[in-house]
Amino acid sequence: MAGGVLNPAGQAVQTRFRIGLADSWGIAPGSSVLEIGCGQGDMTAVLADAVGPDGRVVGIDIAAPSYGAPVTLGQSAAHLLAGPLGQRTEIRLATDVLAASFPAGAFDHVVLSQCSWYFASYEQLRDTLARVRPWARRLCLSEWDLRPTTVEQVPHLLAVLAQGQIEAGGSRGDGNIRTVFGRDDLHRAAADAGWRIGTTATVEATGMQDADWEIAATLDYVGDTARMSALPAEIRRLVATQADLLRATARPRGNPALPAYSVTAA
Ligand SMILES: C[S@@+](CC[C@H](N)C(=O)[O-])C[C@H]1O[C@@H](n2cnc3c(N)ncnc32)[C@H](O)[C@@H]1O
Repeated sequence: MAGGVLNPAGQAVQTRFRIGLADSWGIAPGSSVLEIGCGQGDMTAVLADAVGPDGRVVGIDIAAPSYGAPVTLGQSAAHLLAGPLGQRTEIRLATDVLAASFPAGAFDHVVLSQCSWYFASYEQLRDTLARVRPWARRLCLSEWDLRPTTVEQVPHLLAVLAQGQIEAGGSRGDGNIRTVFGRDDLHRAAADAGWRIGTTATVEATGMQDADWEIAATLDYVGDTARMSALPAEIRRLVATQADLLRATARPRGNPALPAYSVTAA
């Protein structure tokens, strides 16, 4: 979020996308929102704007304030809290939702935006969705859709899958994508946690830089001998093949992102 100071045009694209998400979820003025996986606060700021001066947003992230680059979560939170939306916003970093507690019905909405793939496992996501169930009336989810609609989106897909395979192969990192979920997986996790799926929508993601970021992260991982040598040989070979394919098919920059979708549940 404070990253917007470094790249205002890029931040505008990210913010516009999240305004589309908040619209798709119908976040109304005066409502209270718990955001899980708030990261650098891109969604938190949009939610704080949507709820207005009489609303409230609590953002929670499991990562430490020192996590994140080029701007850390702690720096971003300080920037948001010092600005005009700060009065209606609270941010709790280094906080595990599974160990947190709120009164029943404390929130109108629980939001998870583009963070499910950062969870350590399906079970951790499901248990988190179950933990928040009593706290809010509605669940609002968004994630990238693994189903490309154009061939130019395939490098984003390849990058995501390769990162998921690196993690699944046992070479664990605490940075980028850890567990890749498709739409059906997310619906299953929400249903297993006691939520009933309501509406789903595709959300406009034109211009989003996430494909470029994930491609760069994947090629970094593949170039990291320590991470790659921790993988079983067969998985290492499979990941290396996908990295070759990625280098052959991705543009140097400006790769279009996969489509994104939003879901509500009650
Ligand atoms: C892509 S980032 C932030 C996305 C952010 N919601 C947005 O829309 O800009 C994903 C975040 O999920 C967080 N995360 C991963 N597992 C988590 C968990 N179990 N509980 C809370 N946050 C988690 C990560 O620490 C990371 O900051």
